[in-house]
Amino acid sequence: MPDGQTLIDKTVETQPGITSEGWLTDSWYLGCTSKELKPGGLLHRIMLDQPIVIGRTEAGEAFALRDICPHRLVPLSAGKMLDTDGEPTVECPYHGWRFGTDGVCRHMPSVLEEQPYEASRFKVRRYPVHEKNGMIFVFIAHDPKVSGEPDVPPPDFGELPDKPKFVIQEDFNAHMDDAVVGLMDPAHVAFVHSQWWWRPPSVGLKLKEKPFVPRDRGWAIDRHQPSSNSLAYKAVFGGKVTTEIIFQLPGYRWEIVENETARLLTLTCLTPIYKKKTRITQVTWFFGAPLLNLAIPIFKPAARKFLRQDGDIVDLQNEGMKYQKAMIWIDDIDVQAKWYRTLKKEWTASRTEGRSFENPIEPVTLRWRS
Ligand code: FES
Ligand SMILES: [Fe+2]
Repeated sequence: MPDGQTLIDKTVETQPGITSEGWLTDSWYLGCTSKELKPGGLLHRIMLDQPIVIGRTEAGEAFALRDICPHRLVPLSAGKMLDTDGEPTVECPYHGWRFGTDGVCRHMPSVLEEQPYEASRFKVRRYPVHEKNGMIFVFIAHDPKVSGEPDVPPPDFGELPDKPKFVIQEDFNAHMDDAVVGLMDPAHVAFVHSQWWWRPPSVGLKLKEKPFVPRDRGWAIDRHQPSSNSLAYKAVFGGKVTTEIIFQLPGYRWEIVENETARLLTLTCLTPIYKKKTRITQVTWFFGAPLLNLAIPIFKPAARKFLRQDGDIVDLQNEGMKYQKAMIWIDDIDVQAKWYRTLKKEWTASRTEGRSFENPIEPVTLRWRS
């Protein structure tokens, strides 16, 4: 930050890599979808318990700032976008201070020329953003005063169309960690999601055997045939497909279903809001299979139902969590949950020690019945 600027942000600098609430920092989180943010628009979000305004200039560029005017603490998201000397600025609704998309104050309407206030001395925190494939990611550094571009690349999900086919969203009443663990849990499907058109209870439990490999800041289940009971896949693709499932810190899980002609990618993004509130956003893209469009009216409510079922289980889990912290972790179904915790530790250690992340996971085949 240039000399003489005052960054007014009461967020305390925490240990590199993690907050006291256990959320990973120096990380990219989904802020909103592109569709939610029109040119000239401002959106209020809470991410990692920090108020953030995500905005878009009339020219189409997305940006993010701390959503608190440093003067009297009114959310800037309640104001509006205005041009100041040909530059896009956010105007606070209370006394009209205007801030550039870099967070630096450009204009204080009440100040007379002889009064000793230089607008550019005041600055709100700016968060780097990255917009791609219809999603806007926000980078949350551990240090509120950090400026410049992040040294951590934004998540990359490979070749995808610009616009998702559909997006669903739920806020779980869970800490990010419990939400991640719940969504990756391989053994709950037969019990929580046992509707007849997906996997009727009559199917019974089957032996699952999946080869896992380390991948970036996470792991992947190596390319495999989806379970034969997934009637929906067969119906929709009309032929043999392979699937790949990938998890990556801080909270991305995506599943690719494809054959020679079609590719379907479903991404689940987790963003911490408060200590016991986590936003789950599921984004689906596909290409190369026009027939899949016909399945959207089936897909979308099904995905919604799945997510709601997971949210309901989280609510039940909270009943127990009121009285007890300790849980049991067993092999092999809870191995991924253990990996998640190990990876978080390594992320924190690597950021604290200022070295590169080293994935501690070894390739292994996990076996369970589900
Ligand atoms: S509160 Fe924002 S300008 Fe006064
Ligand atoms: Fe689930």
